[in-house]
Amino acid sequence: MTPARMQLVRDTWALVLPIQQQAAALFYERLFQIAPEVQPLFRGDKVEQGAKLMAALNTLVLSLGRMEQMLPMARELAIRHVAWGVQPAHYEQVGQALLWTLRQGLGDAATPEVMSGWAEAYGELSGAMKAAAYGDAPPSATAAAHAKVHRSSEAESGERS
Ligand code: HEM
Repeated sequence: MTPARMQLVRDTWALVLPIQQQAAALFYERLFQIAPEVQPLFRGDKVEQGAKLMAALNTLVLSLGRMEQMLPMARELAIRHVAWGVQPAHYEQVGQALLWTLRQGLGDAATPEVMSGWAEAYGELSGAMKAAAYGDAPPSATAAAHAKVHRSSEAESGERS
């Protein structure tokens, strides 16, 4: 990503920060509209969940241009997502809901260049997460094994293989 684009992402994130609670609520509303099948995966408190999402995005913005610093966190987070039932295709839907939310929140500031910057930033992070959790193609044995360990306390009928 070019330094100019990174700056656009940082500048527009500063506009979203003051309205982050509304942005998080809007994000989940949109996500469950375009991907209702993922709603049951979210079992925790929605407000808390929204705050964690915004914190993760904040880390992303702060780490722009230093993706390698984010990689350990991204990998660990991605593997936990496998345990929650998240599949590779969901990253595309989450990305769409995120970009849509940013467009709503930013209004006139959501120029094509700004939106491309966000798409690129999300693409880099989600790409790293997917690679860590699922490998290049099907879910890797490692991630699947991890998922089983993390889910062992939950009552789950039917094994994932
Ligand atoms: C770049 C992409 C993503 C980021 C940065 C992200 C970030 C996070 C964070 C920070 C948490 C909280 C972790 C914790 O509680 O310790 C979380 C939880 C979760 N995320 Fe994501 N996430 C991403 C993609 C996705 C995708 C694609 C899905 C698919 C629907 C998803 C579904 C969930 C679920 C189900 C939880 C657990 C919710 C609960 O406990 O109820 N996430 N995510």
